[in-house]
Amino acid sequence: MMQQEQYRPGYHYTPARAWMNDPNGMVYYRGVYHLFYQFHPHSNVWGPMHWGHATSPDMLHWTHQPVALAPDELGAIFSGSAVVDWNNTSGFGTPENPPLVAIYTYHNEADRLAGQRPPQSQALAYSTDQGASWTKYAGNPVLQAAPDQGDFRDPKVRWHEASNSWIMSLAVGDHVAFYASPDLKQWHFLSQFGKDVGAHGGVWECPDLLPIRVAETGAQKWLLLLSINPGGPNGGSATQYFIGDFDGRQFVLDPAFAHQLKQDGPQWIDWGRDNYAGVTWSDVPATDGRVLMLGWMSNWDYATKVPTSAWRSGMTLPRELQLHQHTQGYVLHSLPVRELDALKGHVSQPQAAELVLPGAALEQSETYVEFSRPDGSSKAYLEFSNAHGESYKVGLDGQTGRYFSDRRQAGRKDFAEQFASALHTAPRHAQSAVIKLRVYLDRNSAELFADEGATQMSELLFPTSPYTRVRFVVNGQAVQPAVFKVTQLNA
Ligand code: FRU
Repeated sequence: MMQQEQYRPGYHYTPARAWMNDPNGMVYYRGVYHLFYQFHPHSNVWGPMHWGHATSPDMLHWTHQPVALAPDELGAIFSGSAVVDWNNTSGFGTPENPPLVAIYTYHNEADRLAGQRPPQSQALAYSTDQGASWTKYAGNPVLQAAPDQGDFRDPKVRWHEASNSWIMSLAVGDHVAFYASPDLKQWHFLSQFGKDVGAHGGVWECPDLLPIRVAETGAQKWLLLLSINPGGPNGGSATQYFIGDFDGRQFVLDPAFAHQLKQDGPQWIDWGRDNYAGVTWSDVPATDGRVLMLGWMSNWDYATKVPTSAWRSGMTLPRELQLHQHTQGYVLHSLPVRELDALKGHVSQPQAAELVLPGAALEQSETYVEFSRPDGSSKAYLEFSNAHGESYKVGLDGQTGRYFSDRRQAGRKDFAEQFASALHTAPRHAQSAVIKLRVYLDRNSAELFADEGATQMSELLFPTSPYTRVRFVVNGQAVQPAVFKVTQLNA
C-alpha cells in the first residue's frame, strides 16, 4: 500500500483518483446500482465538474466506470438525478428498452462572473445501453432560471403515479421549488416550500422529495431531504429533513412535525460533520421496498484540505431510511444496509472492558455495545486508540442526555482549523433505559448508529496509525458493558 493510500477506505466508495463531491444520479436498473458523482478528474480539489460513474451489485463493491458527463459550451455538470423512463415518455428509448435519463444542472461560470444571465439551468442526457454511454439532449437546457436567480440547481426527479407526471425538486437559494413534466422535457412550476421554515444558515442544496411509510402505522408520508451549507448543527454543511404530505402539487408540513420543528429546532439526518448532499436511490424495485441513500462523507468546511492525495473524498455507508413514530414525534432513522452482513468476518466478544486487536484488524470493523443509561454526572463512551496515543471517543453524556463524538485527539487535524476544534453533539431521540451503539470504522471514518439508527453521527478521522484498542469507559473508568461485540469487516 502506498503511503498516500493509508486512509483509503475499503467498503466505502472512493474514486480511484482525483476529486469527488456529491453523489448524483443514483438509480437501480436491471440488478445494478448506479452511482454517479461530482467529479473533477484533473485535480484533487474542486473545479469544472463532471459526472464520474461507478456500478455495484450491492452498494459496497464498486466497479469504476468511465466519466459519464463532461462539461461543454453550456457549462460544467453540477448535481442531479437519474431515472428509468419505464414508459419512454421522453422518446429517448423504446418501450422495450426504456432509457435511463439523467437530469442535471449546468453551471456556467462565465455567465456567473458576467452577471448578465442566470448561470444555472437544468438539462438532460440519456443512455440506451444501461448507463454505459450517455448522449446529451439536443434541446438542452430544459429549464431556465428567472433573470435574477443565481442558485437554481440539483434537480431530483421522480415519477408521481397519482398525477401521472414527473416531479422535480430543485434547490433555489433559500427554498425548494417543485416542477412537473409529462416527458422530462417540458416543465411547469408547481409550488415552493421552505422560505420560512427549517434551518437557513446557508444556501439550500440537493433536495429530494419521496414517499415513505411510518413504520408503526403504515401511513404514507412524504420526506423532504434538504442539504444546507453552511449552517449544520455542528458547523459547516449538513442535511436536514422535513415530514409532510404531497398532493402532486404542493408539499405541506405534517402538523405534528411542524410542532416538533418549533419545539426542537431543525431535524438532521446525521448530526456528525461528514454526511452531506445525500439523496435516495431511484427505481429500487417495489418488491425490495427500501428507501436507500448515500451521502458525501465530507464537509465543505475542510473537504479540499483533508490529508489524502491520490483522491479526495469518499461516500458514506449506504443506508436504509425508516420513518418512526416516537412519543415525541417523527424520527427518521438510518441503518446501514443489510448487504453489509456479507462482509462480516471474525467476531470477538470480550468479557472485559477492552479489546486489543493487533495489526489492522480494528480499522475495518463494527463495534456494538449495550449498556444502561449513565447517571446524571457521567459520560459513557467507546474509545478507539492507537500506539501513537491518539483516540476517538463516541458515546453519551449523562448530564446533557446527548450523544457526543470527540475527534479532537483522534489523529491528524492540523490541515484545517475547523476540522477538530470542537466536540460534536447530537440529541438522543430514544427513551429506553438501555443504550445501543453501533460504530463502523473504515480507516478514515467512524459512523455511529445509536438506538437502532435513531441518532446518527458520521465523522472523518485521520489517525497516524490504525486504532488497535477499543474500550468502554464510564465516569473515567474502563467498565465491561452488558454487551460488547467487535466484528471485523472484510472489504
Ligand atoms: C453541493 C453542491 C451542489 C452543486 C455541487 C457542485 O455540495 O454545491 O449544490 O450542484 O455541489 O459541485
